[in-house]
Amino acid sequence: MKALSGVKILDFTHVQSGPTCTQLLAWFGADVIKVERPGVGDATRKQLVDVPGADSLYFTMLNHNKRSIEINSKDETGKEVLTRLVRECDVLVENFAPGALDRMGFGWEDLQRINPRIIMASVKGFGPGKYEDCKVYENVAQCAGGSASTTGFLDGPPLVTGAQIGDSGTGLHLALGIVTALFQREKTGRGQKVLAAMQDGVLNLSRVKLRDQQRLASGPLNEYSQFGEGIPFGEATPRAGNDSGGGQPGRILKCKGWETDPNAYTYFITQAAVWKNVCDVIGKPEWKEAEGYATPPERLDKLNEIFDAVEQWTMTKTKFEVMDICNPLNIPVGPILSMKEIAEDPGLRETGTVVEVDHPERGKYLSVGCPIKLSDSEVTVERSPLLGEHTAEILAEVLGYSGDEFDRVVKSGAVGDVKLPDAAE
Ligand code: COA
Repeated sequence: MKALSGVKILDFTHVQSGPTCTQLLAWFGADVIKVERPGVGDATRKQLVDVPGADSLYFTMLNHNKRSIEINSKDETGKEVLTRLVRECDVLVENFAPGALDRMGFGWEDLQRINPRIIMASVKGFGPGKYEDCKVYENVAQCAGGSASTTGFLDGPPLVTGAQIGDSGTGLHLALGIVTALFQREKTGRGQKVLAAMQDGVLNLSRVKLRDQQRLASGPLNEYSQFGEGIPFGEATPRAGNDSGGGQPGRILKCKGWETDPNAYTYFITQAAVWKNVCDVIGKPEWKEAEGYATPPERLDKLNEIFDAVEQWTMTKTKFEVMDICNPLNIPVGPILSMKEIAEDPGLRETGTVVEVDHPERGKYLSVGCPIKLSDSEVTVERSPLLGEHTAEILAEVLGYSGDEFDRVVKSGAVGDVKLPDAAE
């Protein structure tokens, strides 16, 4: 018994944003049926290919624990199969370009006619308004959602982040919308539309920067490094380098080995409550009570000097030694971990956050497991499906096709090249 056991998801998603959402639902126990175009499938199967002939990591890492059925949604028999799926499923999740679902004949009104209990969940680039018809990818969302303008250094251009906050971030938002709609349906018996726009999702994650935009009306943002450096503020929330967003001064500092290792750095926060500990650790006990250093406001115009001194100390230690020394003293620090270090981290393997998965085409590979742990709904990460691997099984077991009817659908060509299970051959 898993948290979402019994929930059937018609997964009409592709690329990243939608698949991350339905993958989470699958990990929580939903039966996720991924509908793919016959012979083609999700475009990511063949993007960034590393093992020739095998599904790419792009696809395999975003589509765990799902079943795959091939359906041509523009063919009459394909539409018939899809209609039966809509009737059987609790949720349809999609992230097509705006209008694509309507053009297929499966818009919101059509879906409600087929199954009034269905929840239709969509990722779109923008919400209703002048950009609603745009196709949108990750970095467009990062730019339009306010993240890029507030990321990077003051004297450099806007930057996008490596974390896929537009795609995977919006997938997370959508998953929450879906389980909330399922919860409400328990009381009303009705389905509803759930929309997560990528611009909105990114803005939600950039919330503190809109906070700062409004604070600018009351004066400069004291906790930003540029304040202490005497650089005037403009009209919009500026880029703040590696300043911490919460008001406690923080920077990324070099550690031992930085000359050759691009990730020999630590994040270091001079948290006000542990200022004395910071002074002791870095060998500046005189700063504890010194005028101009003892209180946070006094230190604001000396942050460069202070962090230079901290860095002189961190450069004598590895990033892990910094962690080991500072943690017991409640000084917030964090090593800059490379993806190599994360892949090899035994702790992340133990918690199932990094998992090794076996795949028939590509062999063993690493994936990120479920990042949300439920004590009563354990997650077992299963490999992603091959294209159309479960077409016959879904037609027969979920949709009840059998005998001549089954043969008619299979021979129509609308469901791809069906591999029949042994018993049916
Ligand atoms: N059978 C037949 N046709 C299918 C099909 C199937 N099983 N699955 C999809 N198609 C068709 C669609 O109906 C559409 O046809 P149409 O344009 O004639 O109506 C076509 O495939 C292309 O779909 P589309 O979504 O437009 O794909 P795209 O590759 O052109 O655009 C995105 C990709 C991601 C830009 C776009 O889907 C989008 O903006 N999605 C919303 C935002 C989003 O999720 N972006 C992030 C992705 S990680």
